[in-house]
Amino acid sequence: MTSGPAVVAVVSPKGGVGKTTVVANLAAALCDRGRDVTVVDLDPQNALRLHLQMTLDESRGIALQALQDQPLAEACFMSPQGMRVLPYGTLSESDRSDFEQLLRDNPEWLGRALAELEQGESGLILIDTPPGGSVYLQQALLCAQFALLVLLPDAASFVTIASMERWLDDYSRPRPEFQGGYYVVNRMNNARALCRDVFTAMDRELGARMVPHTLHFDAAVEEAMASQLPVSRYAPDSIATRDFRAVAGWLSERV
Ligand SMILES: Nc1ncnc2c1ncn2[C@@H]1O[C@H](COP(=O)(O)OP(=O)(O)OP(=O)(O)O)[C@@H](O)[C@H]1O
Ligand SMILES: [Mg+2]
Repeated sequence: MTSGPAVVAVVSPKGGVGKTTVVANLAAALCDRGRDVTVVDLDPQNALRLHLQMTLDESRGIALQALQDQPLAEACFMSPQGMRVLPYGTLSESDRSDFEQLLRDNPEWLGRALAELEQGESGLILIDTPPGGSVYLQQALLCAQFALLVLLPDAASFVTIASMERWLDDYSRPRPEFQGGYYVVNRMNNARALCRDVFTAMDRELGARMVPHTLHFDAAVEEAMASQLPVSRYAPDSIATRDFRAVAGWLSERV
């Protein structure tokens, strides 16, 4: 345990692997365990709020707060699940480009801004990021104590492990407070031999750096998203609910 809220960055080089789904559902499961959770959408797609029944003013978010030099707390919303949600917000192309320039000029901006969010010692901040290398990824990995690297059980994901390791080497591992980067496989399908084979290869490659729980493919995840709900609320008895609870339990012991 570090003092103050722990920051967990959820990242992947490939798009569509489930980062946003993992952030929303893991946060809900951590709330259920009594943790004080904040989720931060650091992706211009601004999609995290869609998982969490956010219907409030869409322009507010981390980007405009940064550009106007205002505290992030003012743009946070409470979700019905009891977590604090800081959306990316909607903004013009030129504002977006200005925000990205601000991040480029101040690589440690996010860490400083998040430290000002009032949160208890048991607090956890989960950051959603866009796919691939970006100024957002850099900011998240430069302030995280913990990184969750999302993989699909396919060959294309396997070959991305090297680039994820480079990101950790560049941004996270040089900092003494960094506690580790762990890989989680999402959309696992045990009925497919190729998924099982790739999973075995990943396990062999990563060993103890694999999260000891897998997130299985479950149609309830997509249905829950269509209802803007965490899967634990939409389908409490689903495989996905069980999986997210297991990963939340594992994570909660580490941060
Ligand atoms: N375990 C799962 N079972 C079934 N569907 C899933 C699962 N995880 C994610 N999905 C679906 O996969 C799609 C992509 O998920 P998501 O948007 O979370 O990915 P992402 O990595 O955040 O994408 P991007 O890189 O665009 O930000 C969504 O339709 C989501 O509902
Ligand atoms: Mg996403």
